[in-house]
Amino acid sequence: MGWFSRWRKGKRQGADVARGGFNVFGGRRYLNNASYFLPKDNGEINRLDFQHYLLRYALQGNFAAPIGQPSSILDVGCGTGRWAMEMARTYPEANVIGLDLLPPPSEEQLNQLPEHDRRPENYLYMQGNALDGLPFPDRTFDFVHQRLLVAGIPVARWPAEVRDLVRVTRPGGWIELVEAIPASGGPAMNQLREWLVGVGLPRGVDIRTTHQIGQYLEAAGAREIAYRELNVQLGKAGGRVGQMMETNYFSLHDGIRGVAIAQGLTTPEQFDATLQQAKAEIATGRYVWPYYLAYGQRPTS
Ligand SMILES: C[S@@+](CC[C@H](N)C(=O)[O-])C[C@H]1O[C@@H](n2cnc3c(N)ncnc32)[C@H](O)[C@@H]1O
Repeated sequence: MGWFSRWRKGKRQGADVARGGFNVFGGRRYLNNASYFLPKDNGEINRLDFQHYLLRYALQGNFAAPIGQPSSILDVGCGTGRWAMEMARTYPEANVIGLDLLPPPSEEQLNQLPEHDRRPENYLYMQGNALDGLPFPDRTFDFVHQRLLVAGIPVARWPAEVRDLVRVTRPGGWIELVEAIPASGGPAMNQLREWLVGVGLPRGVDIRTTHQIGQYLEAAGAREIAYRELNVQLGKAGGRVGQMMETNYFSLHDGIRGVAIAQGLTTPEQFDATLQQAKAEIATGRYVWPYYLAYGQRPTS
């Protein structure tokens, strides 16, 4: 396909974000010039990969929409690219693009990757900022996927951003969104959730909009909307998966510790004591971490 090889040659966008460099808070590295407030560092890479496998388990697959045999797939905010690379292997005839904010790794870095991390030939990573408008023509992809971008998209930008996802989808193609907001629970868990929400608010990001993804799809013109909640139990009560989800929960909060303190929302002592208390709540209670999934189809006419 012509467009795939053209982009292979390296169209670049989102360079403003990369040029802005990084801030370091509490030993974690964050983008300086983006709305996105979660870390961009090795710790977060590990968490995202770990979470990818948990989500694949919870969903019993990598997607829910009835996509048939797509020939082109876009993953917006692809993170480590784990989802997109698995899709490229599942659909070897399809061209798969993963788009995210940072520049792609160099050839040298790619060559050092272990075998299982090697990029399939039909997968291409592109640097781009979804908030600048997607750098693709209308009606390009059979399947457009966006997972866990709620920490990066200001709430006022969601309607236009989802319209752009629909724009680049072919008539008859599918758009799937997955978002999450950590469980509410005991007082400490609720406090952690409040800090997580609070970190986003000065950037216009409000993670409580997670529940509205189906409405955004509908307002953007998608039809045949389906909506699902994936409730993953947290902690021992949820068996092995629950314990893994608990690790993910604390790793996520470790990722906001530094920014929450830098923004004056809390102190190191208060944050750490609250984390300990949340551990005790999870050990004795039954809480779920809900993930929300919505998909819809671009009408054929
Ligand atoms: C929580 S991670 C999720 C990554 C991946 N979708 C997954 O499910 O594992 C969010 C990703 O979105 C990217 N991101 C945030 N804002 C973005 C934007 N405006 N345009 C493109 N990517 C963005 C971040 O750099 C990060 O890699």
